Amino acid sequence: MDKLLIEGGSKLNGTMRASGAKNSALPILASSLLLEGKLSLSNVPHLKDVTTMIEVLGSMGAEISLDDDMNFEINTSNLNNHIARYELVKTMRASVLVLGPLLAKFGQAEVALPGGCAIGSRPVNLHLESMKKLGAEVVTEGGYIKAKAVNGLKGAEILFDTISVTGTENVLMAAVLAEGKTIIKNAAREPEVSDLIECLCQMGARISGAGTKELLIEGVQELNPTSFKIIPDRIETATYLTAVAMTGGNITIKDSRPDTMESVLDKLREAGAEITTESDSINLKMDSSLKSVDISTAPYPLFPTDMQAQFISLNTIAKGQAKVVETIFENRFMHVQELIRMGGDISLAGNTAIINGNSDALHSAPVMATDLRASASLVLAGLVAKGVTKIDRIYHIDRGYERIEEKLNALGAKIERVSG
Ligand code: UD1
Repeated sequence: MDKLLIEGGSKLNGTMRASGAKNSALPILASSLLLEGKLSLSNVPHLKDVTTMIEVLGSMGAEISLDDDMNFEINTSNLNNHIARYELVKTMRASVLVLGPLLAKFGQAEVALPGGCAIGSRPVNLHLESMKKLGAEVVTEGGYIKAKAVNGLKGAEILFDTISVTGTENVLMAAVLAEGKTIIKNAAREPEVSDLIECLCQMGARISGAGTKELLIEGVQELNPTSFKIIPDRIETATYLTAVAMTGGNITIKDSRPDTMESVLDKLREAGAEITTESDSINLKMDSSLKSVDISTAPYPLFPTDMQAQFISLNTIAKGQAKVVETIFENRFMHVQELIRMGGDISLAGNTAIINGNSDALHSAPVMATDLRASASLVLAGLVAKGVTKIDRIYHIDRGYERIEEKLNALGAKIERVSG
């Protein structure tokens, strides 16, 4: 199993490019099931989760080709089954994103129930209830969601009592080919949801309200092949900016979308970073001392839960006391125990972490990655810790960060990937 060895203490300087967004690529890959013909995608990140989604599509008979520039072409003309198998779904919850498109296109779907995961029970009840509202019969049997809509899906009004990103995306993909109008109330407003909407509209779907809490979908008979470029990954970008806020230095991230990450940029400024933006690039300079920042996670446009772990790392070495509240997931503090092993002064009470920062707090220790963003927080801690930090189980990080050690080493970090 691969591990990362990180020698802390180097400032990070230079220019890098943001990768395409994982959370946009996954639903857009799933949306290829709705098409008659080919979907061409560029800026797809080279990540384990993307490979898993491709395997899910391939297992249903989709033909996928890839050129040297990582442009994907997915042809779903010859699908031969509508089953997302447990062996694939268990490694990635987002596989549930094929439920909506399969139901819409074929009137049936079997998708393995995703199991528990490190950051809480993460149920799929909202996905299932919405499919029922659109007219599907849904049962869970033998560990599988089995859904049928013999007479096709019918538009409906769907009110989410909890905002769900993939829930909203599943309904969007089901409703685009349903008969009549669907209204989604309390929809997720994440930029990745808007990216999916843009791609679906390019295929000929009729959707209005992108970026707002209410989406209106008017069903169409069929969707057409298209080419689409995935938006930059705001969480990857924000993670690297946070790294430089912690190490000190000067970084420019090109091909990024600062307009999708205002809440994080505001917090980095509050922590003492100097940030300037252009429409597709961000520069961050850090040459003052780091100040602690309170955060509370919430759906977009507020502070993303996917940046909570990285900000706990930042606060361990910042001046002052910080309070970090996690409101989205029930058990998303697995990184805290590992950061404490590295010297962080952190206490937990329910969904709140209190961090007493100290610029010399972190020292190396063998630590273990427990989920994707938790792993990122350990990498950031390793970059500033005294000594060489060994991070085990880094397959989690490969699910969501493209060539992380290569990108950070190009900025001056000292990270080595070792196997065994
Ligand atoms: C997506 C993102 C993930 C991010 C999360 C929150 C993708 C592939 N993943 O995950 O990176 O951390 O949004 O921004 O886009 N819930 C239910 N029932 C459901 C569905 C969700 O109770 O059927 C709850 C969840 O347990 C959680 C909250 O709703 O408490 C939000 O989760 P949701 O937005 O659905 O997360 P994902 O879409 O899985």
